[in-house]
Order: sequence, then C-alpha cells, then structure tokens
Amino acid sequence: MRAVLGVGGGIAAYKAAELVRALQQRGHDVQVVMTRAAQEFIQPLTFAALTGRKVVTSLWAAPDSQDILSSAVEHIAVAQENDVLIVAPATADLLAKFAQGLADDFLTTLYLAFTGRVVLAPAMNTAMWEHPATQSNLDVLRGRGCSIVDPDEGWLACGTIGAGRLPDPVRIADRVDSLERRKRDFEGETLLITAGPTQESLDPVRYISNRSSGKMGYALAEAAARRGARVVLISGPVNLPPPANVERISVRTAQEMRAAVLEQLQDASIVIKAAAVADYYLANAPQQKLKKTAARLSLELDPTPDILAEVGQRKGDRLLIGFAAETENLLEEARRKMKAKKCDMLVANLVNRDGLGFESDRNEVDIISHSGHVVHAGPAEKETIAERILDQVATLRLSLHAT
Ligand SMILES: Cc1cc2nc3c(=O)[nH]c(=O)nc-3n(C[C@H](O)[C@H](O)[C@H](O)COP(=O)(O)O)c2cc1C
Repeated sequence: MRAVLGVGGGIAAYKAAELVRALQQRGHDVQVVMTRAAQEFIQPLTFAALTGRKVVTSLWAAPDSQDILSSAVEHIAVAQENDVLIVAPATADLLAKFAQGLADDFLTTLYLAFTGRVVLAPAMNTAMWEHPATQSNLDVLRGRGCSIVDPDEGWLACGTIGAGRLPDPVRIADRVDSLERRKRDFEGETLLITAGPTQESLDPVRYISNRSSGKMGYALAEAAARRGARVVLISGPVNLPPPANVERISVRTAQEMRAAVLEQLQDASIVIKAAAVADYYLANAPQQKLKKTAARLSLELDPTPDILAEVGQRKGDRLLIGFAAETENLLEEARRKMKAKKCDMLVANLVNRDGLGFESDRNEVDIISHSGHVVHAGPAEKETIAERILDQVATLRLSLHAT
C-alpha cells in the first residue's frame, strides 16, 4: 500500500522513524510529511534517508522541479497518490485542527484533501490526552471514520506515569494492515451485529452486568461497513461512539436486546452475536431502592432469554455467528455451544488473561466453522481480529453458496 506518514511536533517524533521501518518491512511504500514543530524534534534528513524520498516540510516549499504547477499543488498530488494517511505522533494540536477542518500547513491541508483511510496515533502528556477538548476532538474524528490507535500507558517524557505514550510502531503497522483490505466483499449484505454487555436491574439504581466493553462488536461493525455491508448494530450500554456508516440501536437489558434482534432479523443476511448478554435477571425487580439492613440478602434470579438459540431456530438461510467467552476448556465448550445454538461459525476466546479480551483493545480468538475447521487469530488489535473474522465469514459464505 502507498502510505503517507505525517509526523507531528511531539516528543515521540523520533519513534516515527521506527514506524517507517515497520511499515516498509510489511511492504508499504512510505512518503513522509513533517510539520514545522516536528522538525524541532527530528531532522527531515532521517526520514529522507530511510525512505529514499524527499520529505515534505512545508506547504510553501520552493518548487524544486521545472514543473511549477504540479509542485504548487503538491498536497493534492500527495493526497491522490496514497492509499492511507497515518499521523504519528498525532499531537493534541493536530487532532484539534483535523477536527475543526483547519488547513494552515501541509499536513492539515493534506488531511482535508485526503479521501483514503486515516490512521491517527495520538501521543501526549496524560492531562492533555484526558482533556475534554482532546477527547471531544477524538469523538469527532472517530465519527468521521478515522481509525484511532489509542496511546499506551507508561512512563512519559514529562516524568509522569499514565496514558499518552505513542503506541508501539508494530501496533500502528498492524492497524494499517487491517485497513489494507479495501475490498467491498460485503456489498449487498445486511449484517445484524450485537455488542456490549446488558444491564439487569436489581432495583431502580442497581444492576447486574459484566465487563464487556463492546469493542469487539464495534470493530466488527466498523469493518463490515467499510467492506460495503449495511450494518445494524444493537448495542448494550458502552462508552463508545457510533462507528461511521452504521445504524446503531441502543438497548439496556437482555429483554430489550432480544426484542431489537427479532425486530431487525427480517432484513439481515448475516447475524453476528458479539454481545455479552447477562445470563440471569431479577424478575419483578422492586420499584423502590433496596434498603441496606444487617441481614443477609438473597436474590432469586431467573435465566434471561437465550437470544442466540432463538435466532438459531429462526435463522432460515441466514449465516449465524456466535461468540463464546470461556475461562477454561475453550474449544470443547465452543463446539458444544455451536451445535446447541445452530451456529454456522463460533468465535471463541479465553477471557481470563491480562491485556486480552474483556475491557482490552486486543484479543486472541479461535474461529471455528461448522465443518470443525479452526482458524487461530491474534493476539492482535480488535480491528485486526474483526477483519480476520469477516474473512472467515466471507469464505464460509462462498463455500455454502458453492454446495
Ligand atoms: C519539549 C516539548 C514536547 C512536546 N511534546 C508534545 C507531545 O508529546 N504531544 C503533544 O500533543 N504536544 C507536545 N508538545 C506541544 C506541541 O509541540 C505543540 O502543541 C505544537 O504546536 C504541535 O505542533 P503540530 O501541530 O505540528 O504537531 C510538546 C512541546 C514541547 C516544547
């Protein structure tokens, strides 16, 4: 892929050199653009030597070719020549300018002229990262379809520990790879995807829930929409903005999720149930808040509706993909569940490992098809795992159509 790497004026600018290497090792052709501030941190010469190409350092650089007109509109040429724009480090300033659509230097003007995929890898001091202004700029950019590689936590150059470190170049390169599939192989399909946890009330202020963040289901929804599908995302309560070009229906309880799924099932050709639906709920939860007393409290819980099994019964010729989060006997449990729920494919993951699965940006899964074939994916970013799952769904669809 042809990638243009925009380097912002942050202390992590030197790590962009490692990113150039990581991208090149994966076969990408890299062109570097530096902001004025970035040049305070690292010399353009470093990138010129690594890429063997002229580094663009200004909107106003004197044209060095005879063809004055083509040089004068270099930002348009660079925008048209490249498949992906990566910005690393994406400073707070750049995020604000991109969100507002300002175009006062080469990189910001390039961003506006760019019609391909955009990957932003922010890096900054923790307070700057957590500032509502930065977070709301990120929401705007996510809503526009930019792919944000969240910063790592750890020691920062300012001497503090917290979120804000430039993500590892391998993680950024992984993200770029996951976007490489520019194919629109889900065009004409309607995907119904569920995501996130459900909340089951115990009283008006308390509920039972689980640690699902919804990130896996959201990554699937985003990837499917990018690959041309119409996507309906039925989401439990999560802290994630709606992905670009996806119809999101928000629900809270397992009952609400069931009703929404059954209502939307009609139009769906593929159903992916990535939500972590609560297994039990308190029927007739009290209308008033439970009072604390010295006595032990026992609650009798009823099973929630088994939405996956119900969809399995009514699935017709739709493809049904389930998820199984287990803490032991992963493959055995997954195969049992796949058969019992009439799934065509099951994505199984162990959720009791640090840094993977629930509440994490990364995951490692086994994708089991109805023939028993197992494909292992990860550990990798959930965006990458989402692409692998969709690849397997596309293969399964082909094999079913062929038989
Ligand atoms: C030593 C130093 C380190 C800095 N590190 C960062 C940083 O890591 N992230 C950030 O967003 N801004 C950082 N800044 C502030 C930016 O350099 C400043 O906002 C600049 O205008 C950003 O320019 P840009 O839009 O070209 O990225 C730093 C400034 C200094 C002086």
